[in-house]
Amino acid sequence: MRVAVITVSDRCARGEMEDATGPELRKRLEGLGAEVVETALVPDEEEQIREALIRASDELGADVAFTCGGTGLGPRDVTPEATDAVLERRAPGIAEAIRHGSLAKTPNAMLSRGVSGVRGRTLIINLPGSPRGARECLEIVWPVLGHALEMMAGRGHER
Ligand code: MTE
Repeated sequence: MRVAVITVSDRCARGEMEDATGPELRKRLEGLGAEVVETALVPDEEEQIREALIRASDELGADVAFTCGGTGLGPRDVTPEATDAVLERRAPGIAEAIRHGSLAKTPNAMLSRGVSGVRGRTLIINLPGSPRGARECLEIVWPVLGHALEMMAGRGHER
């Protein structure tokens, strides 16, 4: 599985804070056997998030592109809007499962507006920005990713 990890954070992009989430997610993914083909760090700007997602999908052909951060209710949180703009088909069940599973960990899970869906052959999934949140949400979705990619390749439900 070829994966892109896109950290969305104004403070990290300005160099005011170190990005702990991207490297944490990378480590987890590699531990699970995924190949991380891209890590990117962009500010909370819709255009730059869209560009990073389009690059991961159209140029790199990643199987899965994870974003971390920018899904909350803050005025600068625009990751879901940027993601929606590049999705060809939404897969709301993935975002619903992330929120549902995360509610068992923290009531703040209901504050994430993350979305998920498909662009080309890439499954795009918004994760929260904290290292712990991103890790917990990766654990929720990981078990279905193989089957999701099979379905996207047209091999899921032959009958
Ligand atoms: N989900 C999990 N599993 N674990 C967490 O720690 N943090 C929540 C939520 N989802 C969290 C979580 C918090 S505090 C917020 S504000 C929202 O995700 C949005 O986070 P973001 O703006 O960094 O994307």
